[in-house]
Amino acid sequence: RPAFMMGRGALIVFEGLDRSGKSTQAQLLARALTEGGKDVLAPSPVQRPPSDDAAGVEYVWRFPDRSTHIGQTLNTYLSSKDAEPLHPRVQHLLFSANRWERAEAIRAALVAGRSVILDRYTYSGIVYSCSLGLELDWCMPPDAGLPRPDVVCFLSVSPEVAARRGEFGLERYENTEMQRRVRDNFERLFAHTAVSDHNIHNFDADREMQAVHRDIVELVQRVIANVADSPSTSVLS
Ligand code: TMP
Ligand code: MG
Repeated sequence: RPAFMMGRGALIVFEGLDRSGKSTQAQLLARALTEGGKDVLAPSPVQRPPSDDAAGVEYVWRFPDRSTHIGQTLNTYLSSKDAEPLHPRVQHLLFSANRWERAEAIRAALVAGRSVILDRYTYSGIVYSCSLGLELDWCMPPDAGLPRPDVVCFLSVSPEVAARRGEFGLERYENTEMQRRVRDNFERLFAHTAVSDHNIHNFDADREMQAVHRDIVELVQRVIANVADSPSTSVLS
């Protein structure tokens, strides 16, 4: 159909613990969706701001987006244990602000008919902050108004399989105790009335990656077909 009648793109979010395969699955999905005449995506999960050249292109964005001004502050904080500690509430607002830095670009891509794939989003934002002791109800409002996902793919990995996939990295939060709290808080958040209608799907990510990928593609293709005719993007409330 002509460009002016084109349906909007879908906002697809990957969530999960470290080493659950989010970045891998986001890339596999992006490649699967861009096959067949559409534009080719960069092979690594780097930021690719939407350009105006072609409609229908899928992009993978990653949060935190470490390339922005606030993202650099977060990167320093995450990657250096010697970095000046940030108060949990300050951290939370910086992670949220980092999403707001990209909100308009995401919305514009969706409206232009491009689907956007996100590697972490507001759910990680809420859950990691809760795992530092902040209250769920305090953590949600800063993200209200951000583009609302059309589907959330939660990659569920068992601690045993995650451990077999390699050692923890050296970043802040990459330790067993924190990961356990994060896992519990994801469960708590997904049961909360504020997000229970967010089209959240659990995938058993202990399986080999192609099997997980096949299930994700099947679901996402249905989601993209369904949103194409819905009028506008909505926001988180
Ligand atoms: P990454 O490993 O996916 O790059 O994310 C870096 C860390 O930041 C990871 O431990 C999760 C954490 N995080 C938050 O604490 N709040 C947020 O809003 C986001 C997006 C990530
Ligand atoms: Mg990490």
